[in-house]
Amino acid sequence: MDERFPAALQQMLSDRLSFYEDIGIRLFYRDRAATSLAPSTAANRASLQVHPEETPLPKTTPTAAVQKAALMAASPLRKIDILPMPSGPSLFESVEKIADDSLLKIRTDLGECTRCKLHKGRHTIVFGDGNPKAQLVFVGEGPGHDEDIQGLPFVGRAGKLLTQMIEAMGLQRKDVYICNVVKCRPPENRTPEEDEVSTCSPFLLRQIDVIAPKVIVCLGAVAAKTLLQTNRGISQFRGEWLEFRGRKLLATYHPAYLLRNPNAKGEVWKDLQKVMAVLGLQVKKGKSA
Ligand code: URA
Repeated sequence: MDERFPAALQQMLSDRLSFYEDIGIRLFYRDRAATSLAPSTAANRASLQVHPEETPLPKTTPTAAVQKAALMAASPLRKIDILPMPSGPSLFESVEKIADDSLLKIRTDLGECTRCKLHKGRHTIVFGDGNPKAQLVFVGEGPGHDEDIQGLPFVGRAGKLLTQMIEAMGLQRKDVYICNVVKCRPPENRTPEEDEVSTCSPFLLRQIDVIAPKVIVCLGAVAAKTLLQTNRGISQFRGEWLEFRGRKLLATYHPAYLLRNPNAKGEVWKDLQKVMAVLGLQVKKGKSA
């Protein structure tokens, strides 16, 4: 144990390094200018206190590799063949944008929701969290135990992994928006049922319309199947650019799946690099999957 650094910081660094190792990043370069840890000055503390509404994505200069990936990403989006869900036509085909909608209105309309049976077991509605003007929205499945208690999405073990993934992209949670298909925890963390998804997902759709992100990342099959209205397995379209109501959508594995299958982290990191390319985020030197 190195006593120059607090144990919590050492643990955080160790977790971060294990994550980078899992996604195939093994080489690190020290920035010549950064010879010591930056002191916590009033100025740099103030620069961190940006209101989420005003949070821009970090400004970066794309490398040649990122530019190439951006060019590839700009190629026509694939529309996957839609297989009808058992319940019939797409939930979203006929959904019009609501004029003057806002996250606040959506939250107010949701209220203390009792529209589906999930309300019976929930502790807190987990609406969503992050930058209301984010260019990047992550959509998960539904709250788990920790999320249900805290009222925030992705704060448990899978959430910690998602946070690491976001930070590996050069972003922070407050730069992106994170939400779920269903806003209440399913009992025993079971997969949300069709009626629960169809009752709750119109609120998700409104959230996406209001935020108007450049990119939507579906975390896992439930989010992907819900937004794309397909019964195809996620492995058939994971990592491909798809279209959702005129926006770019990419589906990747759920962080909870990665906790069980760490070997898949490299695939997810490749998917996230495609997202970075579209958002003009630079893959830092030494970080290559
Ligand atoms: N899994 C999800 O899909 N969403 C959460 O918020 C947490 C875990």
